[in-house]
Amino acid sequence: MSLSGNAVGTTAPPTSARTPLSVDELVGRLCDLPSQPTTALRVLWLADDPKCSARKLGDAVAADPALTTKALRLANSPYYGFSSRVSSAHFAVTILGTATIRSLAAMAASGLDSSHLVVPDWFWRHSAAAAAGCALLAPRFGVRPGDGFSLGLLHDLGIALFCQGDSEYASVRTEFGAALDEHERYGMDHGEAGAKVMAAWNFPAEFVEAVALHERGGSTFGLSQLLTAGDMLANLALEVAEDAVADAETVAQQLSASHEELDSWCDQVRNEADTVSQAMQQ
Ligand SMILES: [Fe+2]
Ligand SMILES: [Fe+2]
Repeated sequence: MSLSGNAVGTTAPPTSARTPLSVDELVGRLCDLPSQPTTALRVLWLADDPKCSARKLGDAVAADPALTTKALRLANSPYYGFSSRVSSAHFAVTILGTATIRSLAAMAASGLDSSHLVVPDWFWRHSAAAAAGCALLAPRFGVRPGDGFSLGLLHDLGIALFCQGDSEYASVRTEFGAALDEHERYGMDHGEAGAKVMAAWNFPAEFVEAVALHERGGSTFGLSQLLTAGDMLANLALEVAEDAVADAETVAQQLSASHEELDSWCDQVRNEADTVSQAMQQ
């Protein structure tokens, strides 16, 4: 199933009109963004073009100072473990890979990297832990670590969108979930909202579908199963799982991993989440 156009979130309209900007309106604006020629969008388009060389993508990143800063911070973070300093956008593109550059550009294009955007305190650490968790587990699902990293980093984009459009959501949303029904309020959950925007920006169909499904479960293909496992591992590592013991059992069983192995993954993800989230924040 490919999610494009209006395939996602076409159910009942929001039941509450208390938001200054409706989530539908917000998602619609982001879906229309390609008409605005920002440098971050140019990077998004180029990252989508298989014929685009790393040099051309590097030129496009270098044309956007904010994106360059973010790419350099991430490339220089201990997560990538380079002993020498990465100082050019072109080298950063080579180190981070197209999928991660695409995620950084998506964050910039959606305003997610703006200091004005209010997201819950835990948002970046959770996204960074999911990125580290998905990258770590990626080979078990036949996925490249760079693609896993980018999927984990962006999978909760919809939470940021809901926070941006609805201050009440921002105030009730916690790491454990929101004390309101996203479907009832917005006609879609945050996975579907993020996926809608990513589909409009031509993210690969499997990537979009994995994001759309991640809160619903029922994953049947590699990328989607990886995201479920990586998200769960992130929550275990950050010790925010509602039922950590049951979740640890599920992850260990799904991945045929021993408890010792799971403990060591949690340590790794926790450490990497700190370095990545520091690099991602202004
Ligand atoms: Fe989520
Ligand atoms: Fe998540």
